[in-house]
Amino acid sequence: MKQSKGKFQSRFLKLVLGCSLLTESVFFTSTVSAQKYEKWVAPAEAIAQKNPLDGNKEVLADAKKLYVSMCAPCHGEKGKGDGPAAAALNPKPADHSSKSVQAETDGSLFYKMTTGRGPMQSFRTKLTDAQRWSLVNYIRTLKK
Ligand code: HEC
Repeated sequence: MKQSKGKFQSRFLKLVLGCSLLTESVFFTSTVSAQKYEKWVAPAEAIAQKNPLDGNKEVLADAKKLYVSMCAPCHGEKGKGDGPAAAALNPKPADHSSKSVQAETDGSLFYKMTTGRGPMQSFRTKLTDAQRWSLVNYIRTLKK
């Protein structure tokens, strides 16, 4: 009699443990999905904005210098999102050579440099408009 009571208790404990593990995992998955990465989309008027330096190759040498000193620590020298600071960041720095970044309009890339998001700081006051447009031209040269 005593023994079967013991068995029952241990089964009961296993059941409680199982349930709590289950709730915990459900809770864990839901918190993880709540923090899911939200795609960064620029507003329509920013996407439509024209690049005043469109096709200007003369700005590329200066833009490259800016890129290497101010962007490469996170985005990497070739823009692949693999700079020395990238490992510690969440979300990861965008891969500027990727299809998805290259498919964006100049206006969209300019807007994102201007406003920033998360670890990507705003360059509104750190760089002039012309410098940010020149960086858009430079990013175009990083296409795979
Ligand atoms: C401290 C690290 C860091 C630095 C420095 C940095 N970035 Fe970023 N950048 C990020 C991160 C992280 C993201 C992704 C942000 C997100 O998706 O929420 C990002 C995203 C971007 C995007 C948007 C890509 C897309 O398609 O969504 C552009 C454009 C960009 N960076 C350009 C630049 C330029 C140009 C510079 C230099 C002037 C620069 N970044 C400097 C970390 C950085």
